[in-house]
Amino acid sequence: MEIVILTGSKQIGALAADAIEALLRRKPNAVLGLATGSSPLPVYDELARRHRENGLDFSQAHAFALDEYVGLEPGHHESYREVIRREFTDKVNIDPANVHSPDGMAADLPAACEAYEETMRALGGVDLQILGVGTDGHIGFNEPGSSLASRTRIKTLIEQTRKDNARFFKNIDEVPHHVVTQGLGTIMDARHVVLIATGAQKAQAVRDFVEGPVAAICAASVLQMHQHATILIDEAAASSLK
Ligand code: F6R
Repeated sequence: MEIVILTGSKQIGALAADAIEALLRRKPNAVLGLATGSSPLPVYDELARRHRENGLDFSQAHAFALDEYVGLEPGHHESYREVIRREFTDKVNIDPANVHSPDGMAADLPAACEAYEETMRALGGVDLQILGVGTDGHIGFNEPGSSLASRTRIKTLIEQTRKDNARFFKNIDEVPHHVVTQGLGTIMDARHVVLIATGAQKAQAVRDFVEGPVAAICAASVLQMHQHATILIDEAAASSLK
């Protein structure tokens, strides 16, 4: 794991965007893995700016969302499919047909999870996966206790994550209890992962996954075993590191 401590979100966004730009120049049909939440927004903003001002081309790229709530109807403001479209993919020239999300409304969720993995495999797997990390160390929605070998599947959110995400909804009662998420094994298959964490509220999680043992209790710790993991953090998120 390579840990890079930067002064703020703008710098983090620029560095992550550099990695994505270099990838797209080398491999125009690259497969990107996209997280939602606040952490990746500076990256998406910077990529949108580079597309707008410098013509950074996404026309042949593919993208896979990390996760999705179960039971939010299509077009729901907080459905991750919708958030990714709004925050990023609508702002660049990626073909909407190339932007994939887990189907949280599928009648047969396990079959939809398998199909999602199969689509990813058929496109050659994810080249670069953007990640955030939860205050409990989750990546995707792999909550504490998730198998390090897990694949895309249904998970139940713990109360802390529902509380953390309530800011996006009218109130906590609206936050779904269930999600579909890529598994830790799925994430580990990405050829490069770039995790972003900012703010003091992430300091403990950063310490646990960077310096603690590799253990299912802290899902992000699995990245210690990834061959190419880049961790971009600000000084506040780095403040508990030894
Ligand atoms: C979102 C996701 C989550 C978030 C994490 C951090 O697709 O997979 O793991 O990355 O909850 O969220 P933020 O960035 O909002 O602090």
